This record gives sequence, C-alpha cells and structure tokens, in this order.
Amino acid sequence: MMRNNTPAALETDSQDTYPVDENTATPRCLVSHLKTKISTTGPLPFDKWMSDCLYHPQWGYYSKGDARVGRSGDFFTSVSVGKCFGMLLCYRLADYARVNHIEGQFDLIELGANTGQLACDILDSLRSDFPHLYKKVRYTICEPLASMQKVQVSTLKEHSAIVEFHATLSGIKQAKKHGILLSNELIDAFPVKLITKKDGQWRELHVVNHNDDFTSITEAIHSPQLLESCNNLPPLPDGYTTEYRPGLEAYAKVCASVLEHGMVLTIDYGHIRSDYYAERRTTGTLRTFYNQTADETPLVNAGEQDITAHVDFTQLALAYQSAGFEPQYFDSQSRFLIQIAKPWFKAIENKQQAPPAKLIRQFQTLTHPGMMGNQFSILECSLNHAPDKAVLAKLELPEALTRK
Ligand SMILES: C[S@@+](CC[C@H](N)C(=O)[O-])C[C@H]1O[C@@H](n2cnc3c(N)ncnc32)[C@H](O)[C@@H]1O
Repeated sequence: MMRNNTPAALETDSQDTYPVDENTATPRCLVSHLKTKISTTGPLPFDKWMSDCLYHPQWGYYSKGDARVGRSGDFFTSVSVGKCFGMLLCYRLADYARVNHIEGQFDLIELGANTGQLACDILDSLRSDFPHLYKKVRYTICEPLASMQKVQVSTLKEHSAIVEFHATLSGIKQAKKHGILLSNELIDAFPVKLITKKDGQWRELHVVNHNDDFTSITEAIHSPQLLESCNNLPPLPDGYTTEYRPGLEAYAKVCASVLEHGMVLTIDYGHIRSDYYAERRTTGTLRTFYNQTADETPLVNAGEQDITAHVDFTQLALAYQSAGFEPQYFDSQSRFLIQIAKPWFKAIENKQQAPPAKLIRQFQTLTHPGMMGNQFSILECSLNHAPDKAVLAKLELPEALTRK
C-alpha cells in the first residue's frame, strides 16, 4: 500500500505485500529480498531499487541505525566537520526571528536529521548566544526510521524539554507553525530514476537479476510525468545517462502544509538546470559511497553503501514554488556562511580575544572553495513573500510562474 502523504524518499514499497513463490526461501537479507521482488514483480525501476537499498525498514543502509555519516563512517557532511556549522546556522535562524518579529513560539523543523547532531549544535548555540530566543523555540525532528529516532533522542537529551519527534511531516497534527523547515543533505538522499538516451529516445533503467547478478536494462517510459520531464531536457546525445528525481512536488506540498508562515532552508550539493544537464555530464551525478570512497556502482553492496545523486536546484525551487514558497536566496555555502558569520566575527573582535582556533579551522573547511565552500548550495524559499527576481534568474526560473 502506498501512503499518499509520505515524503517521496521513504515511500519504499518494501511494506507492500508481494507474492512469494512457495519454493523460494523467505528473504533473509536485502539481496534475497530484492531477488524475490524482481522474480515476482519483474524488472525494478531504479528509484525503487535505490529506495529499498537505503530505506528498507530492516536492511536499508540508513535503517540500521549505526554510524554511516562522519569521519568513521562512509562519508562526512558539514555537520561532521564540527560545531561551527550548527553555530553559524543558529545565527541565520536568530536573524530570521529578529527580522520577522517572531513574538510567540518559533518553530524549527528538521528533516534528514540523521544522528541529531546538527539539531544539538544549533540548540547549544541558541541556548548560549540567544537565550531569549531559545526559550521560544520548539525543535521538531521528522524521522521515519525508528532506529535513527532512538539515536536522536539520546543525542538531544539535554534539550529534551523543547524537542519533539514525529515519524513524518504530515504526522504533525498541531496548528500550523511559524518557523523554518531545514535540512542538510536530505534531498540528495531521495531516490532518483535513471534515464538514458537511445536512438534519439529517452528510456528508463530497470534492475534485473541476470545469472544471479544484478544488472540493468532499459525500458520504454510510460509515466506521463517522466515523459514530460524528459521532453523538457535540452537536446542531449545518444548514450547520455542522467537522473530525474520524482516526488519533489509532493514533498514540497507536505512542507507547505505544516507552515502558516516561514521558509524552507535547504542545503545540499547540486546544480542549476543548465549545469546539471550539461552535455559534458555524460554519466550524470549518481554516486555511491562506501568507507569514504566514492564510486558509481549502485548495483553492488546492496544496503551496505550510500547511493546519492546531486540536486537539480531548478527542479527543487520549482517544486517549492508550486507549493507556495518563493525563492529568496540561492548561493554557495561559502558565500552564505561568510555572510552570516559577520556577527560572530564582530563578537570575537569586541571581546578582543584570540579567535577559537578549532572553530576557525572548521570555518575554513566549510567555506574554502576547494573544500566544502563551493560543493554545497543554500536555497531559501518563503511563504507569503514575493520572489526575489535576481534569485529567480540565478535559478533559471521565469519571473511569472504558471501555477498548475
Ligand atoms: C545524508 S543523510 C543526512 C545527513 C545529516 N543531515 C548531516 O548533515 O549529517 C540523509 C538522511 O535523510 C534521511 N531521509 C531520507 N528521506 C527522508 C524523509 N522523507 N524524511 C525524513 N528523513 C529522510 C535519511 O534517513 C538520512 O538519515
């Protein structure tokens, strides 16, 4: 059964009942689960494969609850660099509350919180640097995986009085909120469809089991939504393989449904449309991560490695727009953090103390163009605000959106 209001990434159909051949062994691991599924339901569209590999409730990469992210895991994020990232985001959140004259409760909602470390860093900084605002904050984490929620509860025990947990955004039943919905490296973990150009036509990749090995075949595209997206791509040569991320509109709609006023602040790696589908990216942006090593082998190590694809920020901004959010800011992590760090540097100057060396080193890692500064982008989209025209242009979006 598909649950209509579940955000796209975790809409794994692994909870579906699918017929199991009496002679087939009951799946005991992800590989045998996937084999059974393919033998009973046929070739598996790549997004369904990716969904099971990452989020199968028992064997999915993210469902197991052990350390996947961080220096000892398979890859690290801006959060793993240290407390500086959360501290600076806290400055941005405080500035938003000041400019928008937030008097009552200030809601912060995070998706893809993983271990809860970013939430903890933000709340630690809020408590020490903005104690009045800290008292107004309610921090909600939406985490569908029970194993991860357990880890988050433990990471955030010091802030338990102001932290709430929900399985899904749509599960938040209280009155609509005024606040910020934030995520770091969430969208890149949403499953993608793989498409390839063959004889002038776009085709979709499906996973099959050939002689006990997973491999891919291409099939004609039947989904009208995918066909429309393919038709909107620039002319690209035969053999070009890339991704399309379905479900962003559904995700954006759920985001809008929990906020009365506020914005979504999305941090991720990706490109605007013309760069994403540039002719030179002949094999797309899909990557796998295992033990700090990047590769492009999504059909091996099922459930043992991360599978990710860059974000098409034009597609994402368009999805937010169709849900009522309007783009206000889009820039590199480097420029974003340098801008929001100004009060921090001023505070250091005023105290006339030597800057804390550890935090400065983290700041450099996060902002240096050769490290994380240019790898990530920040997109801010607000409800009840006209779009910023310069930001629309940056995102290659028209000034007037034809709403569906
Ligand atoms: C790359 S990790 C995020 C890392 C973390 N935010 C950080 O900065 O270190 C992606 C996370 O998104 C979560 N996720 C994927 N789809 C989700 C959804 N629809 N709702 C909530 N979390 C989701 C995954 O379970 C995983 O924990």
